[in-house]
Amino acid sequence: MLSVRDLRAGYAGTTVLDGVEFTVPSGTVVALLGRNGVGKTTFVHTVMGMLKPYSGSIRVDGREFAGAPAHTVARGGVAIVPQGRRVFAPLTVEENLRIAVRASRRSRESRESRGPSASGGGSGPWTVERVYELMPRLAERRANRGDQLSGGEQQMLAIGRALLRNPRLLLLDEPSDGLAPAVVDLIAEVLEGLRGEGIAAVLVEQDLHLAFRLADEVAVMQKGRIVHRSSTADFRQDRDRAHSLLGVG
Ligand SMILES: Nc1ncnc2c1ncn2[C@@H]1O[C@H](COP(=O)(O)OP(=O)(O)O)[C@@H](O)[C@H]1O
Ligand SMILES: [Mg+2]
Repeated sequence: MLSVRDLRAGYAGTTVLDGVEFTVPSGTVVALLGRNGVGKTTFVHTVMGMLKPYSGSIRVDGREFAGAPAHTVARGGVAIVPQGRRVFAPLTVEENLRIAVRASRRSRESRESRGPSASGGGSGPWTVERVYELMPRLAERRANRGDQLSGGEQQMLAIGRALLRNPRLLLLDEPSDGLAPAVVDLIAEVLEGLRGEGIAAVLVEQDLHLAFRLADEVAVMQKGRIVHRSSTADFRQDRDRAHSLLGVG
């Protein structure tokens, strides 16, 4: 689904990603772990086309996207739930979701106008009603503005907006960030509810419990490189390795 080779990227000439090798098989959730500042957000932004890489390859379903702008990557079937969950504060939940539907429809139309070879597609189609079924809390809050939502509700809205793009690859950047444990649990249930949809995901996480609960495989980043990759089960069993890589027990 996603195949990243020798990816180099950074800001204004500085090197943050220093030759990243990373793959996500179809339908698989891969947790991307690593201490603060190692380059996890830079990585998902580069995959999404929000940051242009210096060099390297980013293939989604075999198609090369390195250097392509975000709207092109989105058309290729990739969606992001950004760190800090940026929802449109002055708009209601419903309006936020409708905007995502319109954006998705626009990119589908332009995809279709370029013929079947350029098709991105997804496991959808997701509708606003389906998003409400997955997250009933959002239905209750549909008339509330973005800035009237709790952190957990904003995170659900950010997830809903990403799903409405009908992605085959979802990039989740620390969905638990800043949320109370009970709320993290709600988000975990939502993401577990997506199992069976066949959506592949990169799950950037600091919360190891959440990563272990959701991910099939684990990758660890240090200083802009992937230094470890294994099944989640193997990683869980090797506490010493987890400790040395992440500084946690
Ligand atoms: N917009 C930016 N401009 C300049 N440097 C940045 C920017 N964003 C992140 N960095 C730097 O890139 C490095 C990696 O940051 P980031 O990708 O956010 O790490 P992580 O998500 O793993 O915490 C850090 O040294 C950070 O200071
Ligand atoms: Mg980050």
